[in-house]
Amino acid sequence: MSGPATILVVFGTRPEAIKLFPVIAALKADPRFRVRVCVSGQHRDMLDQVLGIAGIVPDHDLDLMRPDQSLDALTAGLLTGIGGVIDAERPDRVMVQGDTATAMAGALAAYYRKLPVDHVEAGLRSGNIHHPWPEEVNRKVIGTLASLHFAPTAAAAAALRAENVDPARIHVTGNPVIDALHWVTARIAEQPSLAGGLAALEARFAGKRIVGVTSHRRENFGNGLASIAEAIRRIALRDDIAVIFPVHPNPNVRRVMHGALAGDPNVALIEPLDYPHFARLLALCEIMLTDSGGVQEEAPALGKPVLVMRETTERPEGIAAGTARLVGTDAGRIVSEIFTLLDDKAAYEAMARAHNPFGDGQAARRIVEILGDEIRQQA
Ligand code: UD1
Ligand code: UDP
Repeated sequence: MSGPATILVVFGTRPEAIKLFPVIAALKADPRFRVRVCVSGQHRDMLDQVLGIAGIVPDHDLDLMRPDQSLDALTAGLLTGIGGVIDAERPDRVMVQGDTATAMAGALAAYYRKLPVDHVEAGLRSGNIHHPWPEEVNRKVIGTLASLHFAPTAAAAAALRAENVDPARIHVTGNPVIDALHWVTARIAEQPSLAGGLAALEARFAGKRIVGVTSHRRENFGNGLASIAEAIRRIALRDDIAVIFPVHPNPNVRRVMHGALAGDPNVALIEPLDYPHFARLLALCEIMLTDSGGVQEEAPALGKPVLVMRETTERPEGIAAGTARLVGTDAGRIVSEIFTLLDDKAAYEAMARAHNPFGDGQAARRIVEILGDEIRQQA
C-alpha cells in the first residue's frame, strides 16, 4: 500500500456518533490515514446534534430515516446505500461501532466486497437474542465477519474468544464513550454556557431531588413502556422528587410517555438533549433510570447510581462494580428501588462510587495505534 490507508467510517445514530467522534479525530490527526465519513442518517435530529457538537462534516449522508421506520425497510436501504458509497470511495477498510442496523449493514456491505471491517465496541453479549432486540444479533453478525475487534473490556474480549474469534485479532482498548465524556466535560468547564440551557428547569426544580430518565428500547415497546410510565407517575407523586426525562423521538415512546405524564408538575418531558446538556443532566441527577446502553457506561464513570430497566445486560461491568442494578420494567420494583436509594443513605452511598470499568479515556488513541500496526504489516 502506498500513501495513506483510506478508512471509511460508517455510522448513523446518536450513540454511534458519540462513541466514534474521538476515534475519527484521532484518525484524522494521523497522516497514515485518509478518513472518509459516511452517515446513514438512521437518526436525523439526534445524529445532527452530535455532528454539530463534534464538528464532523460527513462526506456522504444517505438521509435514510423515516418516521416509525421498520427494521426490514431500514436495513434494505442501509445495505444498498452503504454498498454504493463503498463502491464510490473504494476504501481500504471500513469501521463500524456497536450493534445498530447501520453498523450491521455497514459491516455486511464491506464483507460483500471482501474489505476488512474494524469493529469498535466488539464482544458485548447478553446471551439472549431477544434482549436487547435486535442488537444482540446485529453484533454477533459483525463479530463473525470483522477483521479487528476493539473490545472495551476484558469480559468482552473473553466473549469473543469463546466464539472462537482469533485471539490475535482481539484488542482490549476501553470504550471511546469515556473519551467522549472526558472531552465534553472539559469543553463545558471551558465554556459553561454550552450546557446552560437547563437553567430554567434547574430553577423550577430547585431543592428537589432529581431523577434522570431515558428510555427507548424496542423490546420494551407496549407493556414495558406503559409500566415504565406508571413507575414514573408514582415516583413523581412525591413532592420532594422531580423527574427530568429527555424523550426519544420514536413515536412509540412519545405516545406512551406524553399520554401518561404530560402535565405532571414534578415531571419534565423534554426534547432529546445535545451531549453537553445531557452531561449536565448526569451531573444534576441523584439517580439515572434508563434502558440505554451508553448511559450504563457513563453513569458509573461519574459515580451516579444507574437503575437499568432491562431483564439482562451486555454490560455486566457496571453491575459488578456495584454502580448499576438491573430492575426490569415492573412498576412496583422500579418505584421501590428508587425510594430505597433516595431514603436509605447507606444504600445510596454503596452505589454512588465512581468506577471506570469501561475505559480510561484513551480508547481512541489505542485503536489508532493498533490500526497503524495493522496497515504497516499489510504494506
Ligand atoms: C436505534 C438503534 C438502537 C440504539 C438507538 C439509540 C437499531 C435497530 N436500533 O434505535 O440500537 O440503541 O438507535 O438511540 O439500529 N427518530 C426521530 N429522530 C431521530 C431519531 C429517531 O424522529 O433523530 C424516530 C423516527 O420516527 C424513527 C424512530 O425514531 O423511525 C426509530 O429510530 P430507529 O433508529 O429505527 O430506532 P431507535 O429506537 O432509535
Ligand atoms: N444522550 C444524549 N442526549 C439525550 C440522551 C442521551 O446526548 O437526551 C447520550 C448519552 O450521553 C449516551 C448516548 O446518548 O452517550 C446514549 O444513546 P441512546 O440511549 O440513544 O442509545 P444506546 O446507548 O442505548 O444505544
